[in-house]
Amino acid sequence: MRIISGIQPTGKIHIGNYLGAIKQWLELQKKEDCIFFIADLHSLTCPYEPKDLKESIIEAAICYLAAGIDPEKSIFFTQSDVPEHTRLAWIFNTVCPIGELERMTQFKEKSKQFRKNINAGLLTYPVLQAADILLYKAGAVPVGKDQVQHIELTRTIARRFNQKFGQTFSEPRAILSEGSKIMSLTDPKKKMSKSSDPNNCISLFEEPEAIRKKIMSAVTDTGKTVKYSPKTKPGISNLITIYSLFSEKSVKEIESNYKEKGYAEFKKDLADIIITSLQPFREKRKEFLSNKNQVIQILKSGAEKAKKIAERTISEVNQKIGINL
Ligand code: TYM
Repeated sequence: MRIISGIQPTGKIHIGNYLGAIKQWLELQKKEDCIFFIADLHSLTCPYEPKDLKESIIEAAICYLAAGIDPEKSIFFTQSDVPEHTRLAWIFNTVCPIGELERMTQFKEKSKQFRKNINAGLLTYPVLQAADILLYKAGAVPVGKDQVQHIELTRTIARRFNQKFGQTFSEPRAILSEGSKIMSLTDPKKKMSKSSDPNNCISLFEEPEAIRKKIMSAVTDTGKTVKYSPKTKPGISNLITIYSLFSEKSVKEIESNYKEKGYAEFKKDLADIIITSLQPFREKRKEFLSNKNQVIQILKSGAEKAKKIAERTISEVNQKIGINL
């Protein structure tokens, strides 16, 4: 089965992105035909500094590589290096109902967050995402929960295209992990996010002292018992999920280990676990940072491989829609 997924390069990649998406990718790349990319075109829809974007793309690439994405096993590239993505997105625009786009939760949230910049790209964001996926005829997409609606729309677009032009695309499914919705450390009712307060998240390369500070000041709930109950104790439950995913210990085990201990001791241990788990990423990042040209080379050669598959799909699509002279 072919697998595809991507992450936007703006803002620092955080443990929510890791536990929700990248951690699953690492497992999948052992046995499936995987394609991972940096969704730089998607990131243009939110305010950003052009002078910083190139560095952010390299930083995102280093993040993938430091986390363990292996360019020998998986195709790994930058979205804008394969223009077929935008080409297919345009064609999909012509079969995608606008009402569906206006219903997307992410569009509604981003329109509220960036009131002064509600651009058409924010609305058609999921159409480009559908093109990213269907261009490679992927069967499954490992993502966090917030992206499930976009995968459903991808299925709708595939169906509409097939109805209009004949069977071309099969419908991909989302693959969700146990960390599919990691919540903010400062407001556990919201998801951890790159685009809000920096204290809400821990980046994959965060320094140990910053990790400790953020965990120790993470919002918890009233009471002292370390108990998993997302509805009544969203703060501590989110921290238990993070603990469980980094330590590979079950929620039950964690609850019982901390039965007699309070939040402070739990948080202290959690900070230690995160610091130790992220240590190898920080070290690998240093190696790649001193070799940025090699990173760019890896992306370029990945784009060559991706392009071969993308060109085949575009040529089939052109023929189906009637623009192949
Ligand atoms: P981005 O960069 O916003 O998120 C990247 C991945 O991280 C997941 N994620 C989370 N998972 C758990 N808890 C969180 N708090 C959390 N925050 C983010 C997201 O669900 C996502 O899997 N639109 C995509 C990028 C994209 C893409 C694609 C993905 C563009 N084209 C094609 C798959 C296939 C996105 O949300 O990026």
